[in-house]
Amino acid sequence: MSFSTIEHNRRRQNFEGISSVWLFGYGSLIYKVDFPFLEKRPATITGWQRRFWQGSHDHRGTPEAPGRVVTLIETPGARCKGMAFRVSPDVFEQLDVREKNGYLRFSTPMEFDNGAVEDGLVYIATEDNPAFLGPATSEDIARQIARSIGPSGPNRDYLLNLAEALRALGDHDAHVFEIEDHLR
Ligand code: SIN
Repeated sequence: MSFSTIEHNRRRQNFEGISSVWLFGYGSLIYKVDFPFLEKRPATITGWQRRFWQGSHDHRGTPEAPGRVVTLIETPGARCKGMAFRVSPDVFEQLDVREKNGYLRFSTPMEFDNGAVEDGLVYIATEDNPAFLGPATSEDIARQIARSIGPSGPNRDYLLNLAEALRALGDHDAHVFEIEDHLR
């Protein structure tokens, strides 16, 4: 898949004069922290649900046989728990490459466990991106994940690592845990 969001993301926010930015992670950014950060805190965003509806052609699958990874779907009233990282803006150069298969940076408020709220950014792969796969049953998603593998490793590791990280955060994400049950 030649589509890439790198150039789009570079033009989306102006970081001039800004020394740090909060980034909300809800998928692999929670458990695969291969970027420098200044601080990290569990956080929640409202109005979004985590769903295994995004195709992965570059990390957990291939262009011929895409895997499935998570994105956020707008859902009034829903709450999504994740991990917030305070990063230097130059870290987005590296993260934009990692998230290039359909993810765009959006602004969002995020709430920390002590009730404090900060504005920051989140990568979301919206339904109009070419790698978007959309809904399927938990069994079918688990089946696709079980057979997919890409340059970052087996798709099953993405799911199992995410489920483990959500348990450690004290989150009960029924969608993720149901797919995990089918996979196991
Ligand atoms: C995220 O983790 O916040 C974005 C999706 C991913 O990289 O898995």
